[in-house]
Amino acid sequence: MARGFFITFEGGEGAGKSTQIERLGKKLREKGYRVLVTREPGGSPGAEAVRHVILSGSAEEFGPEMEALLFAAARSDHVEQVIRPAIESGMIVLCDRFIDSSRVYQGVTGNIDKGLMEAIERVAINGMMPDLSIFLDLDAEVGLQRAAARRSAGEGADRFEKETIEVHDRRRQAFLEIAASEPERCKVVDAAQDPDATQQVIEEIVFGVLERHVQQPTEAEQ
Ligand code: TYD
Repeated sequence: MARGFFITFEGGEGAGKSTQIERLGKKLREKGYRVLVTREPGGSPGAEAVRHVILSGSAEEFGPEMEALLFAAARSDHVEQVIRPAIESGMIVLCDRFIDSSRVYQGVTGNIDKGLMEAIERVAINGMMPDLSIFLDLDAEVGLQRAAARRSAGEGADRFEKETIEVHDRRRQAFLEIAASEPERCKVVDAAQDPDATQQVIEEIVFGVLERHVQQPTEAEQ
């Protein structure tokens, strides 16, 4: 595989993304693929510094546009320092959250103008569009309960977890709307099943897409 393959995982709080990414990474490595696991906001030293500013809530008072720009700044650094070099070296990159989180959390529930969001996205990813995005879909209330259960004692909800159930539910709908509008890239997986069943569905999707990717060389290779 000359160019690598870029897979993102998206979904609401407590959908089980990190568990599934870890399992998929292990499976891919067993099959001989070189895999890089990363996450957003963060994934590079510059982006991890911005992550702290955003998730602590320090930027919240400056409004959703400010937060969207901070996410984009972090993403740009992450793409250029980590994701693009890995993809160019032929690796499979598994990323916990990416542009669809910005579209949903900042664009839809942050009420940011669509044109502004598109402009920010273009600059942040600079062509590095995911090849495949897995959306882990779960009832918002169940997800929040799971997220609360996994926090250690005394640790509070972060900037985004603490929002109302209506907001979380709107986000779920927004992820489903993106998936419906980009069915080639986005695959919705029911995350209410047990983790083994969810893992199996994800593997079927990923290995199916990877097979097609390998069998269909790009124009340059033909
Ligand atoms: P994180 O602790 O990584 O949680 P999770 O396990 O839910 O991914 O927190 C990331 C939070 O940041 C999460 O609430 C979603 C939010 N977020 C955005 O609002 N916009 C974005 O572009 C990204 C990447 C994340």
